[in-house]
Amino acid sequence: MKTYLVTGGAGFIGSNFIHYMLEKYGKEIRIINVDALTYAGNLENLKDIEHLDNYTFVKADITDKEAINKIFTENDIDKVVHFAAESHVDRSIRNPEVFVKTNVLGTAVMLNCAKAAWELEDGSFKEGKKFLHVSTDEVYGSLSEPGTYFYETTPYDPHSPYSASKASSDMLVKSYMDTYKFPANITNCSNNYGPYQFPEKLIPLIINNALSGKKLPVYGDGKNVRDWLYVMDHAKAIDMVIEKGKLFETYNVGGHNEKENIEIVEIILETLQEMLSDDDPRKALVTKDLITFVEDRKGHDRRYAIAPDKIKADLGWEPETMFKDGIRLTIQWFFENEEWMKNVTSGDYQKYYNEMYQ
Ligand code: NAD
Ligand code: DAU
Repeated sequence: MKTYLVTGGAGFIGSNFIHYMLEKYGKEIRIINVDALTYAGNLENLKDIEHLDNYTFVKADITDKEAINKIFTENDIDKVVHFAAESHVDRSIRNPEVFVKTNVLGTAVMLNCAKAAWELEDGSFKEGKKFLHVSTDEVYGSLSEPGTYFYETTPYDPHSPYSASKASSDMLVKSYMDTYKFPANITNCSNNYGPYQFPEKLIPLIINNALSGKKLPVYGDGKNVRDWLYVMDHAKAIDMVIEKGKLFETYNVGGHNEKENIEIVEIILETLQEMLSDDDPRKALVTKDLITFVEDRKGHDRRYAIAPDKIKADLGWEPETMFKDGIRLTIQWFFENEEWMKNVTSGDYQKYYNEMYQ
Protein backbone atom coordinates (compact mmCIF):
# COMPACT_ATOMS: atom_id res chain seq x y z
CA MET A 1 0.00 0.00 0.00
CA LYS A 2 1.47 3.35 -1.09
CA THR A 3 1.38 6.25 1.37
CA TYR A 4 0.86 9.76 0.01
CA LEU A 5 1.66 12.84 2.05
CA VAL A 6 -0.51 15.61 0.61
CA THR A 7 0.23 19.15 1.82
CA GLY A 8 -2.53 21.76 1.56
CA GLY A 9 -5.15 19.04 1.09
CA ALA A 10 -7.85 21.14 2.75
CA GLY A 11 -7.61 23.80 0.03
CA PHE A 12 -9.25 23.93 -3.37
CA ILE A 13 -7.04 21.75 -5.60
CA GLY A 14 -5.72 19.61 -2.74
CA SER A 15 -9.19 18.54 -1.62
CA ASN A 16 -10.26 17.77 -5.19
CA PHE A 17 -7.06 15.75 -5.64
CA ILE A 18 -7.73 13.73 -2.47
CA HIS A 19 -11.26 12.98 -3.68
CA TYR A 20 -9.91 11.96 -7.09
CA MET A 21 -7.28 9.64 -5.62
CA LEU A 22 -9.55 7.93 -3.10
CA GLU A 23 -12.20 7.46 -5.76
CA LYS A 24 -9.67 5.98 -8.18
CA TYR A 25 -7.51 3.84 -5.86
CA GLY A 26 -9.78 3.21 -2.84
CA LYS A 27 -8.04 1.10 -0.19
CA GLU A 28 -4.96 0.57 -2.37
CA ILE A 29 -3.51 3.83 -1.03
CA ARG A 30 -3.23 5.74 2.21
CA ILE A 31 -3.38 9.52 2.34
CA ILE A 32 -2.02 11.78 5.06
CA ASN A 33 -3.22 15.33 4.60
CA VAL A 34 -1.15 17.99 6.32
CA ASP A 35 -2.65 21.46 6.36
CA ALA A 36 -2.35 24.51 8.62
CA LEU A 37 -5.99 25.44 7.96
CA THR A 38 -5.38 29.05 7.00
CA TYR A 39 -8.37 31.10 5.77
CA ALA A 40 -8.17 29.00 2.57
CA GLY A 41 -8.15 25.59 4.24
CA ASN A 42 -11.50 24.05 5.04
CA LEU A 43 -12.13 20.61 6.50
CA GLU A 44 -15.72 20.79 5.23
CA ASN A 45 -14.19 20.04 1.81
CA LEU A 46 -13.30 16.57 3.09
CA LYS A 47 -16.14 15.70 5.40
CA ASP A 48 -17.39 12.86 3.16
CA ILE A 49 -14.05 11.03 3.43
CA GLU A 50 -12.84 11.91 6.94
CA HIS A 51 -14.19 8.64 8.40
CA LEU A 52 -12.09 6.46 6.07
CA ASP A 53 -9.37 4.48 7.82
CA ASN A 54 -6.91 5.05 4.96
CA TYR A 55 -7.20 8.85 5.33
CA THR A 56 -5.60 10.90 8.13
CA PHE A 57 -5.62 14.64 8.73
CA VAL A 58 -2.73 16.35 10.54
CA LYS A 59 -3.02 20.03 11.40
CA ALA A 60 0.48 21.43 10.96
CA ASP A 61 2.31 24.30 9.35
CA ILE A 62 4.78 23.30 6.63
CA THR A 63 7.28 25.82 8.00
CA ASP A 64 7.32 23.87 11.28
CA LYS A 65 10.32 21.54 10.86
CA GLU A 66 9.60 19.45 13.93
CA ALA A 67 5.99 18.78 13.03
CA ILE A 68 6.87 17.82 9.45
CA ASN A 69 9.82 15.66 10.52
CA LYS A 70 7.56 13.83 12.95
CA ILE A 71 5.21 12.88 10.12
CA PHE A 72 8.11 11.48 8.09
CA THR A 73 9.55 9.58 11.07
CA GLU A 74 6.25 8.05 12.08
CA ASN A 75 5.17 7.07 8.56
CA ASP A 76 6.89 5.49 5.58
CA ILE A 77 5.92 8.15 3.03
CA ASP A 78 6.19 7.07 -0.62
CA LYS A 79 4.96 10.17 -2.43
CA VAL A 80 4.78 13.79 -1.39
CA VAL A 81 2.26 15.91 -3.29
CA HIS A 82 3.05 19.46 -2.30
CA PHE A 83 0.12 21.85 -2.78
CA ALA A 84 0.33 23.92 0.42
CA ALA A 85 0.88 27.56 -0.44
CA GLU A 86 -0.49 31.03 -0.19
CA SER A 87 -2.22 31.12 -3.56
CA HIS A 88 -3.97 34.44 -4.19
CA VAL A 89 -2.18 37.09 -6.27
CA ASP A 90 -4.16 40.05 -4.86
CA ARG A 91 -3.31 39.06 -1.30
CA SER A 92 0.37 38.78 -2.25
CA ILE A 93 0.31 42.36 -3.52
CA ARG A 94 -1.05 43.56 -0.19
CA ASN A 95 0.98 41.30 2.10
CA PRO A 96 3.97 39.60 0.42
CA GLU A 97 5.80 38.31 3.50
CA VAL A 98 3.58 35.36 4.32
CA PHE A 99 3.99 34.24 0.68
CA VAL A 100 7.75 34.07 1.12
CA LYS A 101 7.40 32.28 4.43
CA THR A 102 4.94 29.60 3.33
CA ASN A 103 5.84 29.17 -0.32
CA VAL A 104 9.64 29.42 -0.07
CA LEU A 105 10.55 28.44 3.49
CA GLY A 106 7.71 25.92 3.67
CA THR A 107 8.92 24.21 0.49
CA ALA A 108 12.49 24.15 1.84
CA VAL A 109 11.27 22.43 5.01
CA MET A 110 9.26 19.88 3.00
CA LEU A 111 12.27 19.14 0.78
CA ASN A 112 14.65 18.77 3.72
CA CYS A 113 12.38 16.47 5.67
CA ALA A 114 11.70 14.27 2.63
CA LYS A 115 15.42 14.15 1.82
CA ALA A 116 16.31 13.16 5.38
CA ALA A 117 13.69 10.39 5.34
CA TRP A 118 14.48 9.02 1.91
CA GLU A 119 18.27 9.32 1.58
CA LEU A 120 20.44 6.21 1.90
CA GLU A 121 23.97 6.11 3.31
CA ASP A 122 25.59 6.31 -0.13
CA GLY A 123 23.62 9.48 -0.98
CA SER A 124 21.16 7.73 -3.29
CA PHE A 125 17.44 7.58 -2.51
CA LYS A 126 15.13 4.72 -1.57
CA GLU A 127 13.31 3.16 -4.53
CA GLY A 128 9.86 4.43 -5.51
CA LYS A 129 9.99 7.72 -3.62
CA LYS A 130 8.86 10.92 -5.32
CA PHE A 131 8.23 14.55 -4.41
CA LEU A 132 5.75 16.26 -6.71
CA HIS A 133 5.89 20.03 -6.46
CA VAL A 134 2.65 21.61 -7.68
CA SER A 135 3.37 24.96 -9.26
CA THR A 136 1.90 27.54 -11.57
CA ASP A 137 2.23 28.94 -15.08
CA GLU A 138 2.56 32.41 -13.53
CA VAL A 139 6.29 31.79 -13.03
CA TYR A 140 6.74 32.32 -16.79
CA GLY A 141 5.43 35.89 -16.68
CA SER A 142 3.06 37.31 -19.25
CA LEU A 143 2.49 36.67 -22.97
CA SER A 144 1.50 39.42 -25.34
CA GLU A 145 1.56 38.03 -28.88
CA PRO A 146 -1.40 35.77 -29.79
CA GLY A 147 -0.23 32.29 -30.77
CA THR A 148 2.68 32.28 -28.31
CA TYR A 149 2.70 29.82 -25.41
CA PHE A 150 4.53 28.87 -22.23
CA TYR A 151 6.73 25.79 -22.70
CA GLU A 152 8.79 24.00 -20.06
CA THR A 153 11.81 25.77 -21.57
CA THR A 154 10.34 29.29 -21.31
CA PRO A 155 12.57 31.41 -19.04
CA TYR A 156 11.09 32.34 -15.68
CA ASP A 157 9.90 35.95 -15.44
CA PRO A 158 7.57 36.24 -12.44
CA HIS A 159 5.93 39.59 -11.71
CA SER A 160 3.78 39.36 -8.60
CA PRO A 161 5.05 38.53 -5.12
CA TYR A 162 2.97 35.32 -5.42
CA SER A 163 4.57 34.21 -8.67
CA ALA A 164 8.03 35.25 -7.45
CA SER A 165 7.57 33.07 -4.37
CA LYS A 166 6.38 30.13 -6.49
CA ALA A 167 9.30 30.61 -8.89
CA SER A 168 11.65 30.56 -5.90
CA SER A 169 10.08 27.35 -4.64
CA ASP A 170 10.44 25.76 -8.09
CA MET A 171 14.11 26.75 -8.10
CA LEU A 172 14.61 25.15 -4.70
CA VAL A 173 13.12 21.89 -5.96
CA LYS A 174 15.34 22.13 -9.05
CA SER A 175 18.38 22.70 -6.84
CA TYR A 176 17.60 19.50 -4.89
CA MET A 177 17.24 17.55 -8.13
CA ASP A 178 20.47 18.99 -9.54
CA THR A 179 22.55 18.76 -6.36
CA TYR A 180 21.34 15.57 -4.71
CA LYS A 181 19.51 13.79 -7.55
CA PHE A 182 16.51 14.13 -5.24
CA PRO A 183 13.56 12.24 -6.82
CA ALA A 184 11.13 14.96 -7.83
CA ASN A 185 8.95 16.42 -10.55
CA ILE A 186 7.54 19.90 -10.98
CA THR A 187 4.20 20.65 -12.63
CA ASN A 188 3.29 24.16 -13.79
CA CYS A 189 -0.43 24.47 -14.31
CA SER A 190 -2.77 27.14 -15.64
CA ASN A 191 -5.88 28.55 -13.88
CA ASN A 192 -8.08 25.91 -12.27
CA TYR A 193 -11.80 26.15 -11.59
CA GLY A 194 -14.35 23.79 -10.03
CA PRO A 195 -15.95 22.76 -6.73
CA TYR A 196 -14.52 23.98 -3.40
CA GLN A 197 -12.75 27.02 -4.90
CA PHE A 198 -12.55 29.88 -2.42
CA PRO A 199 -14.59 32.90 -3.60
CA GLU A 200 -11.64 35.29 -3.69
CA LYS A 201 -10.79 33.82 -7.12
CA LEU A 202 -12.56 35.11 -10.23
CA ILE A 203 -14.99 32.27 -11.06
CA PRO A 204 -16.47 31.49 -7.62
CA LEU A 205 -16.51 35.20 -6.76
CA ILE A 206 -18.54 36.01 -9.86
CA ILE A 207 -20.94 33.09 -9.29
CA ASN A 208 -21.48 34.08 -5.66
CA ASN A 209 -21.91 37.80 -6.35
CA ALA A 210 -24.24 37.26 -9.30
CA LEU A 211 -26.51 34.98 -7.28
CA SER A 212 -26.85 37.66 -4.64
CA GLY A 213 -27.25 40.51 -7.12
CA LYS A 214 -23.93 42.07 -6.11
CA LYS A 215 -21.62 43.96 -8.46
CA LEU A 216 -19.23 41.86 -10.55
CA PRO A 217 -15.78 43.51 -10.30
CA VAL A 218 -13.77 43.20 -13.51
CA TYR A 219 -10.21 44.51 -13.33
CA GLY A 220 -8.99 47.02 -15.93
CA ASP A 221 -10.47 46.53 -19.40
CA GLY A 222 -11.45 42.89 -18.75
CA LYS A 223 -9.33 41.69 -21.66
CA ASN A 224 -6.65 39.86 -19.66
CA VAL A 225 -6.52 36.25 -20.78
CA ARG A 226 -6.28 33.11 -18.63
CA ASP A 227 -6.17 29.47 -19.73
CA TRP A 228 -8.85 27.68 -17.67
CA LEU A 229 -8.65 24.03 -16.66
CA TYR A 230 -11.26 21.98 -14.79
CA VAL A 231 -9.72 20.97 -11.47
CA MET A 232 -10.33 17.22 -11.88
CA ASP A 233 -8.31 17.29 -15.11
CA HIS A 234 -5.47 18.80 -13.08
CA ALA A 235 -5.86 16.07 -10.44
CA LYS A 236 -5.59 13.46 -13.18
CA ALA A 237 -2.45 15.10 -14.58
CA ILE A 238 -0.81 15.07 -11.14
CA ASP A 239 -1.61 11.40 -10.67
CA MET A 240 -0.13 10.61 -14.10
CA VAL A 241 3.06 12.55 -13.34
CA ILE A 242 3.44 10.71 -10.03
CA GLU A 243 2.90 7.36 -11.75
CA LYS A 244 4.66 7.82 -15.07
CA GLY A 245 6.56 11.11 -15.02
CA LYS A 246 10.28 10.76 -15.62
CA LEU A 247 12.23 11.86 -12.54
CA PHE A 248 13.66 15.40 -12.60
CA GLU A 249 11.31 16.53 -15.39
CA THR A 250 8.95 19.49 -15.41
CA TYR A 251 5.52 19.18 -17.03
CA ASN A 252 3.27 22.06 -18.07
CA VAL A 253 -0.44 21.41 -17.57
CA GLY A 254 -3.06 23.55 -19.33
CA GLY A 255 -6.57 23.59 -20.65
CA HIS A 256 -6.18 24.75 -24.29
CA ASN A 257 -8.90 27.10 -23.17
CA GLU A 258 -7.90 30.75 -23.35
CA LYS A 259 -10.56 33.26 -22.45
CA GLU A 260 -10.68 36.97 -21.66
CA ASN A 261 -11.96 37.69 -18.15
CA ILE A 262 -14.98 39.55 -19.49
CA GLU A 263 -15.89 36.51 -21.58
CA ILE A 264 -15.74 34.34 -18.44
CA VAL A 265 -18.08 36.72 -16.62
CA GLU A 266 -20.52 36.73 -19.54
CA ILE A 267 -20.48 32.92 -19.83
CA ILE A 268 -21.21 32.61 -16.11
CA LEU A 269 -24.16 35.02 -16.41
CA GLU A 270 -25.56 33.17 -19.44
CA THR A 271 -25.12 29.76 -17.80
CA LEU A 272 -26.76 30.94 -14.58
CA GLN A 273 -29.70 32.24 -16.64
CA GLU A 274 -30.03 28.83 -18.33
CA MET A 275 -29.71 26.84 -15.12
CA LEU A 276 -31.93 28.88 -12.77
CA SER A 277 -35.58 27.93 -12.98
CA ASP A 278 -38.12 30.61 -13.92
CA ASP A 279 -39.63 30.72 -10.45
CA ASP A 280 -36.23 31.21 -8.77
CA PRO A 281 -36.12 34.84 -7.50
CA ARG A 282 -32.35 34.96 -8.16
CA LYS A 283 -32.98 34.73 -11.91
CA ALA A 284 -34.04 38.37 -12.11
CA LEU A 285 -30.86 39.49 -10.34
CA VAL A 286 -28.45 37.84 -12.77
CA THR A 287 -27.94 40.47 -15.46
CA LYS A 288 -25.07 42.10 -17.32
CA ASP A 289 -25.88 45.35 -15.48
CA LEU A 290 -23.97 43.91 -12.53
CA ILE A 291 -20.67 44.04 -14.46
CA THR A 292 -18.50 46.82 -13.02
CA PHE A 293 -15.08 47.69 -14.36
CA VAL A 294 -12.82 48.51 -11.41
CA GLU A 295 -9.23 49.66 -10.93
CA ASP A 296 -6.76 47.22 -12.46
CA ARG A 297 -4.63 44.81 -10.43
CA LYS A 298 -1.12 46.24 -9.97
CA GLY A 299 1.34 44.59 -12.39
CA HIS A 300 -1.54 42.60 -13.91
CA ASP A 301 -0.18 39.91 -16.26
CA ARG A 302 -1.90 40.26 -19.63
CA ARG A 303 -2.10 36.72 -20.89
CA TYR A 304 -1.24 33.17 -19.81
CA ALA A 305 -1.39 30.21 -22.18
CA ILE A 306 0.16 26.81 -21.65
CA ALA A 307 1.40 24.44 -24.34
CA PRO A 308 0.74 21.05 -22.71
CA ASP A 309 2.54 19.27 -25.58
CA LYS A 310 5.12 17.48 -23.46
CA ILE A 311 2.71 15.94 -20.96
CA LYS A 312 0.54 14.82 -23.88
CA ALA A 313 3.43 13.30 -25.83
CA ASP A 314 5.20 11.68 -22.85
CA LEU A 315 2.34 10.68 -20.57
CA GLY A 316 -0.77 10.79 -22.78
CA TRP A 317 -2.51 13.44 -20.64
CA GLU A 318 -4.99 15.83 -22.25
CA PRO A 319 -7.62 18.18 -20.83
CA GLU A 320 -10.93 16.30 -21.00
CA THR A 321 -13.56 18.67 -19.66
CA MET A 322 -14.88 21.27 -22.11
CA PHE A 323 -15.34 24.68 -20.48
CA LYS A 324 -19.07 24.72 -21.20
CA ASP A 325 -19.44 21.44 -19.27
CA GLY A 326 -16.98 22.29 -16.51
CA ILE A 327 -18.66 25.60 -15.75
CA ARG A 328 -22.07 23.89 -15.51
CA LEU A 329 -20.64 21.27 -13.14
CA THR A 330 -19.12 24.05 -11.06
CA ILE A 331 -22.30 26.12 -10.91
CA GLN A 332 -24.35 23.01 -10.11
CA TRP A 333 -21.95 22.27 -7.23
CA PHE A 334 -22.40 25.80 -5.87
CA PHE A 335 -26.20 25.44 -6.15
CA GLU A 336 -26.01 22.22 -4.12
CA ASN A 337 -23.58 23.64 -1.55
CA GLU A 338 -25.06 26.98 -0.57
CA GLU A 339 -24.20 26.26 3.07
CA TRP A 340 -20.51 25.85 2.15
CA MET A 341 -20.53 29.26 0.45
CA LYS A 342 -22.35 30.85 3.40
CA ASN A 343 -19.79 29.48 5.83
CA VAL A 344 -16.73 30.59 3.86
CA THR A 345 -18.08 34.07 3.17
CA SER A 346 -18.95 34.86 6.78
CA GLY A 347 -16.50 36.50 9.18
CA ASP A 348 -13.04 37.37 7.83
CA TYR A 349 -14.10 37.12 4.18
CA GLN A 350 -16.35 40.18 4.52
CA LYS A 351 -13.46 42.20 5.92
CA TYR A 352 -11.18 41.06 3.08
CA TYR A 353 -13.86 41.81 0.49
CA ASN A 354 -14.58 45.30 1.80
CA GLU A 355 -10.90 46.24 1.96
CA MET A 356 -10.15 44.77 -1.45
CA TYR A 357 -13.12 46.10 -3.43
CA GLN A 358 -13.92 49.33 -1.62
P1 NAD B 1 -5.73 27.22 -1.82
O1 NAD B 1 -5.35 28.58 -1.36
O2 NAD B 1 -7.15 26.92 -2.12
O3 NAD B 1 -5.24 26.14 -0.76
C1 NAD B 1 -4.00 26.22 -0.12
C2 NAD B 1 -4.02 25.26 1.06
O4 NAD B 1 -2.73 25.31 1.69
C3 NAD B 1 -5.05 25.63 2.13
O5 NAD B 1 -5.73 24.47 2.57
C4 NAD B 1 -4.21 26.21 3.25
O6 NAD B 1 -4.76 26.01 4.55
C5 NAD B 1 -2.91 25.44 3.09
N1 NAD B 1 -1.76 26.17 3.64
C6 NAD B 1 -1.44 27.48 3.43
N2 NAD B 1 -0.34 27.79 4.14
C7 NAD B 1 0.04 26.66 4.77
C8 NAD B 1 1.11 26.34 5.64
N3 NAD B 1 2.01 27.27 6.00
N4 NAD B 1 1.23 25.09 6.10
C9 NAD B 1 0.32 24.15 5.76
N5 NAD B 1 -0.72 24.38 4.96
C10 NAD B 1 -0.87 25.62 4.48
O7 NAD B 1 -4.80 26.96 -3.08
P2 NAD B 1 -5.10 26.15 -4.43
O8 NAD B 1 -5.74 27.05 -5.40
O9 NAD B 1 -5.74 24.86 -4.08
O10 NAD B 1 -3.61 25.88 -4.94
C11 NAD B 1 -2.89 24.75 -4.48
C12 NAD B 1 -1.50 24.76 -5.11
O11 NAD B 1 -1.63 24.73 -6.51
C13 NAD B 1 -0.67 26.00 -4.78
O12 NAD B 1 0.66 25.59 -4.59
C14 NAD B 1 -0.80 26.87 -6.03
O13 NAD B 1 0.34 27.67 -6.19
C15 NAD B 1 -0.91 25.81 -7.10
N6 NAD B 1 -1.66 26.21 -8.31
C16 NAD B 1 -2.93 26.74 -8.20
C17 NAD B 1 -3.65 27.03 -9.35
C18 NAD B 1 -5.05 27.60 -9.29
O14 NAD B 1 -5.59 27.98 -10.33
N7 NAD B 1 -5.70 27.67 -8.14
C19 NAD B 1 -3.06 26.82 -10.62
C20 NAD B 1 -1.76 26.30 -10.69
C21 NAD B 1 -1.08 25.98 -9.52
O1 DAU C 1 -2.41 30.74 -13.57
C1 DAU C 1 -2.44 29.97 -12.41
C2 DAU C 1 -2.83 30.83 -11.24
O2 DAU C 1 -4.21 31.13 -11.39
C3 DAU C 1 -2.56 30.19 -9.88
O3 DAU C 1 -1.19 30.00 -9.73
C4 DAU C 1 -3.09 31.07 -8.74
O4 DAU C 1 -2.93 30.41 -7.50
C5 DAU C 1 -4.57 31.32 -9.00
O5 DAU C 1 -5.06 32.19 -8.00
C6 DAU C 1 -4.78 31.92 -10.38
O6 DAU C 1 -4.25 33.27 -10.44
P1 DAU C 1 -5.02 34.46 -11.18
O7 DAU C 1 -4.57 35.73 -10.61
O8 DAU C 1 -4.96 34.29 -12.66
O9 DAU C 1 -6.53 34.10 -10.72
P2 DAU C 1 -7.74 35.03 -10.21
O10 DAU C 1 -8.94 34.16 -10.13
O11 DAU C 1 -7.37 35.83 -9.02
O12 DAU C 1 -7.93 36.05 -11.41
C7 DAU C 1 -8.23 35.60 -12.72
C8 DAU C 1 -8.29 36.82 -13.62
O13 DAU C 1 -9.45 37.59 -13.27
C9 DAU C 1 -7.12 37.76 -13.46
O14 DAU C 1 -6.79 38.33 -14.73
C10 DAU C 1 -7.62 38.85 -12.54
C11 DAU C 1 -9.10 38.91 -12.87
N1 DAU C 1 -10.00 39.27 -11.75
C12 DAU C 1 -9.89 38.59 -10.58
C13 DAU C 1 -10.72 38.88 -9.52
C14 DAU C 1 -10.59 38.14 -8.21
C15 DAU C 1 -10.97 40.25 -11.92
O15 DAU C 1 -11.08 40.87 -13.02
N2 DAU C 1 -11.80 40.54 -10.88
C16 DAU C 1 -11.71 39.91 -9.67
O16 DAU C 1 -12.48 40.25 -8.74
